[in-house]
Amino acid sequence: MHPETSPPVSPEAPRRGFLAKALALGCGGLATLAPLGAGVWAILDPLRRTSGAAAFRPVTDLAAVPADGVPRRFAVVADRVDAWTGFAAEPVGAVYLRREPGSDTVQALSATCPHAGCFVEMNATGTCFRCPCHNSAFTFDGGIVEPSPSPRPMDGLECRVAEGGAVEVKWENFYTGIAAKVARP
Ligand code: FES
Repeated sequence: MHPETSPPVSPEAPRRGFLAKALALGCGGLATLAPLGAGVWAILDPLRRTSGAAAFRPVTDLAAVPADGVPRRFAVVADRVDAWTGFAAEPVGAVYLRREPGSDTVQALSATCPHAGCFVEMNATGTCFRCPCHNSAFTFDGGIVEPSPSPRPMDGLECRVAEGGAVEVKWENFYTGIAAKVARP
C-alpha cells in the first residue's frame, strides 16, 4: 500500500489499545481468583464442614413402622458436603425402626454393625439381626446374642414422632470396634 493511501492514525489509538489490554488482564485475573476464593471459603466455612453432624432427619411416617414389634429398615437421606462438593439428598446410612403393639413410641437402631461397620440384616428366619461379615447377632432391641465378635450392642438413636406423623431420627455415626459408644465428629 502506498504510504499516501494509508488511513490516518489517530493519536488516541495507542491509548485505547492499552486500556483494552488492561481490561482483559483484569477480567482474566478475576476469573482465576473466583474459583480459588470459592475453594478457600468451602474449607474455612464451619457450617459446610459440620453439615454431617447429628441432626434429626425425617425417615418415614409412623404408619410405615410395623406395629407388631418386628423392625423394618429405612434409608437415612441427607445432603452431604465435603470440602469441595455438595451432594444433594443421598443415602448416608440406614436405621431399623420398630414399635410394640399398641404403641406409638418408635425405637431406632443404627443398621451399622458396631464391630466393623457392615450393614446388619435380619436373619433368615426373621427372628433376630445378624451381621453377614463376622456373624454377630443381635436381638430386635439391639442386645448382643453371645458369642459375638461385636464389642457392644447395636447403637440406639434418638427418635421422635413429629406432628403429622413423620418419624425423625437423630442420625449419628459411631466408632466401631470398641466397647464404648462414641459418636464420630
Ligand atoms: S462387621 Fe459385623 S460382625 Fe464384623
